[in-house]
Amino acid sequence: MKWMMTSAESAAEELAQRCCVWAAARQRGSASGALLLPTGSTPLPFYGALRQLAAQGSLATEAWLSFNLDEYWPCAASDPISFRAFMDRELFAPCGIADEQIAFLDGTCAEAELTAHCAAYEDSMRAAGGIELAVVGVGVNGHLAFNEPGTPWDSRTRRVALAQTTRARPGFPGGTEHGPSEALTVGIGTILDAREIVLLAFGEAKAEAVRQLREGKASEEWPVTALQTHPNVTVYTDCC
Ligand code: GLP
Repeated sequence: MKWMMTSAESAAEELAQRCCVWAAARQRGSASGALLLPTGSTPLPFYGALRQLAAQGSLATEAWLSFNLDEYWPCAASDPISFRAFMDRELFAPCGIADEQIAFLDGTCAEAELTAHCAAYEDSMRAAGGIELAVVGVGVNGHLAFNEPGTPWDSRTRRVALAQTTRARPGFPGGTEHGPSEALTVGIGTILDAREIVLLAFGEAKAEAVRQLREGKASEEWPVTALQTHPNVTVYTDCC
């Protein structure tokens, strides 16, 4: 595991450049594989850096192919709280990335169809050549995507209940009273299948999760410690 003690802005620049290299390799046909992307406040500087590179013509957006980690359920993509609306606003629309280059879990999927939808999401990752680079944040409780504490590390894409600690976080849409209580998320096993993983974790609120990853034992109580088992992880953090 590679530790980069740096600012969110420097991490964003470096990671955005890494994505330019990935897109250029796809454009040349010398690489396959998609990106797996997060939402939340942490990746905002990263998406800002990608928008800048796209505006300069340095990002081969025509070679783009990405999956996102999760989506609230039920939740329409047009709902401003949806993760799809976040990605459209922060990245896809400003960079001119077309719908056919984007894979997203469907927050309007009928309950009876969820198992098939989640299995199809995993199948489409394999059909895309797998995940070349997974960029993940971490929850205050150490969750990855919406894999809450206690999630088995071989978990796959599925419907999940959100932990109270997640729903009680400042900024959680609608709060614990009116906010979403469930989501669709890739599993920890899905994330660990990525060929490379980058974790972005900044600010005091993430310090304990980062400490567990760096010094704690691998435990399902801290999903982020699953990254200790992966051979190619880079952590960008300011949590010393
Ligand atoms: C949500 C997302 C995670 C994200 C986490 C932290 O739970 N499902 O993917 O890492 O929030 O978000 P933030 O970066 O806003 O702290």
